[in-house]
Amino acid sequence: MPVSNRAVSELGVDEAAAELEFLARELARHDTLYHGKDMPEISDADYDALKRRNDALEAAFPDLVRADSPSRKVGSAPASGFQQVTHSRPMLSLDNVFSDGDVQDFIASVYRFLGRLPDGSITFTAEPKIDGLSMSIRYERGRMVSAATRGDGTVGENVTANIRTIKEIPQVLPDGVPDVVEVRGEVYMSKPDFAALNALMLAEGKPTYVNPRNTAAGSLRQLDPKMTATRKLRFFAYAWGEIRDGAGNDVRLAETQFDTVKIFEKWGFPVNPLMTRLNSVDDIIAHYREIGLQRAELPYDIDGVVYKVDSLQLQGRLGFRSRSPRWATAHKFPAEQAMTTLTGIDIQVGRTGALTPVARLVPVTVGGVVVTNATLHNEDYIRGIGNSGELLREGRDIRIGDLVIVQRAGDVIPQIVDVVMEKRPDDSDPYDFPKTCPVCGSHAVREVNEKTGKMDAVRRCTGGFICQAQAIEHLKHFVSRDAYDIEGLGSKQIEFFFNSEDSALQIRTAPEIFTLRARQDGSHLTKLENIDGFGKVSVGKLFSAIDARRQIALNRFIYALGIRHIGETNAKLLARAYGTYEAFEAGMKEAASYTGDGWNELNAIEGIGEVVARALVEFYKEPRNIDVISRLLTEVTPLPMEAPTTSGSPVAGKTVVFTGSLERFTRDEAKARAESLGAKVAGSVSKKTDYVVAGPGAGSKLDKARELGVEVMTEDDWLTLIGG
Ligand code: IVH
Repeated sequence: MPVSNRAVSELGVDEAAAELEFLARELARHDTLYHGKDMPEISDADYDALKRRNDALEAAFPDLVRADSPSRKVGSAPASGFQQVTHSRPMLSLDNVFSDGDVQDFIASVYRFLGRLPDGSITFTAEPKIDGLSMSIRYERGRMVSAATRGDGTVGENVTANIRTIKEIPQVLPDGVPDVVEVRGEVYMSKPDFAALNALMLAEGKPTYVNPRNTAAGSLRQLDPKMTATRKLRFFAYAWGEIRDGAGNDVRLAETQFDTVKIFEKWGFPVNPLMTRLNSVDDIIAHYREIGLQRAELPYDIDGVVYKVDSLQLQGRLGFRSRSPRWATAHKFPAEQAMTTLTGIDIQVGRTGALTPVARLVPVTVGGVVVTNATLHNEDYIRGIGNSGELLREGRDIRIGDLVIVQRAGDVIPQIVDVVMEKRPDDSDPYDFPKTCPVCGSHAVREVNEKTGKMDAVRRCTGGFICQAQAIEHLKHFVSRDAYDIEGLGSKQIEFFFNSEDSALQIRTAPEIFTLRARQDGSHLTKLENIDGFGKVSVGKLFSAIDARRQIALNRFIYALGIRHIGETNAKLLARAYGTYEAFEAGMKEAASYTGDGWNELNAIEGIGEVVARALVEFYKEPRNIDVISRLLTEVTPLPMEAPTTSGSPVAGKTVVFTGSLERFTRDEAKARAESLGAKVAGSVSKKTDYVVAGPGAGSKLDKARELGVEVMTEDDWLTLIGG
């Protein structure tokens, strides 16, 4: 079960327990992906949302807290391949806060815990939250002896050999340092180093890396330190583990967080220059905003600001919760934005024919991920017009060559949210959205929504039948149950034929289904017989099933074409109205001008509205659709639709319900026949029902008919009534 979006207070105990079980499993999986494999599937923001949901559920249902609860764990268990190291002091995580209100609550909770009035007397450090991997480096008598990743917080991986390759981490500390010192901080890769590495990968034709953090993690996990040495990794010291003297007593290097970090700096460790000290909530929040503005320009990725109580004495009094200190919190950034240049706009064609503009960008890191593409939604969005006609970006349009602002929020596809007008090149032109499909060349149109009367934001390719982007879906529709319904040729087989590179086996358009047999020779037949999925139906049977459909009811034929808005009902209305395929196609061509008799005739059909009529006209305006249909017509014959013989028909105007498992005819057949005789076929029995035709096993509908006194008959009675 997924996480529900219902309020925690609305959940019952069973639902909460089920959700907590799901969250425990899901978060453990993401932990392994993130920490163990460096291959996260979800964004940090989404991960945090899952965590928060878990916390909220646990707060509301304390009895349901699980032994394997994600709130009790830090990171993931160490991956194999490295020796394990038990941390002398656990490596804890930080609580996250997101809003100004959360920050206020954090500060208030510190004062409350210490029994003090919130008078601004407590100093906090603010440090950028570096997006890398935490590392604990142990020095004994001034020499580096080991370095370990966080792992699950208690046991990490011994990556000493790899850490020794990082030049900016000292191997030896100055004379006079305590006997044992564990310096903790973040290993990361800088943005420029990451970009250079990816440029190299590109030049060598190798796959590029996703983001600096995962690349740093992957580099550290190399079993061969020579590999790690080729990657430029860096380090910021911001915390510590065990520090003790030769007699085994704990040593405090200074009285505050800030001064301790400054001592690390003196010892030769890189420390972040943006670390500062603040007191009031307002100053803290203003600082957070300031760091947020600088974020994109920083040469390393950060994902928030960490606040810590500066006084170590107070830190000691505040202590820890199960997995995080009470004296610190991480104020995370929301969706990140970055600026880059729009180098081009590609048009992608979806499986339903929708044309989607995709921005091609000069690669830029946004929220720790290198972004090269972003969505531009649709042509109105590019022009600066919203879905309800409102102005977007104060009406600024987006042009190729513009400096644009890209945003990534959570897991969603990055999008372009604005343009820097001052940087617009003088010679730029408004973007001209293509009016033809880039895949098949058919013209592409925007429909008018029948209900709202507004123009659809999406432009669609009209070459559904011939467009490669849509072809496979169209073929699947073509052979579906209410269309051609060819036994032995379902979606799976269509995929095989569609993807086949062998010209004797390939089916890319509907007529090719009917030329399949003619394209075979002995060797291909054997190939076909060996294909998975044909076991049930022999190849011979497949060809017979195809041949059996060389004649087909006109309505099924029209439906099979997969014209937008033409479902079974509309296909039937059209087939009845025009009678033959030739008349139908001629009618569509006559309607092409959207005026005159042809257009009026089409619109006069009961049940066909303007949107449907337009879809038909546009489809038939595309010469290539007509070309495929004419190829199809050399293989198959749509049978003329019998005009309903309502006069003299014994069932004209009657309403009939078929129920039970019919044995003399299929339900579709029964329906078609009844309708051709002017009867109305209904799905449920009511007072208006005239006849109920009941086959074996009929149940509630039969009971209802008896209850209402509706005439019930057998299939044979029905056949006799309608004349066989
Ligand atoms: S302090 C007991 N300070 O964020 C507190 N952590 O989400 C230990 N991080 O595991 C952490 N920058 O990997 C601290 N300036 C900073 C940090 C920082 C990045 C990471 C660190 C930690 C994670 C918690």
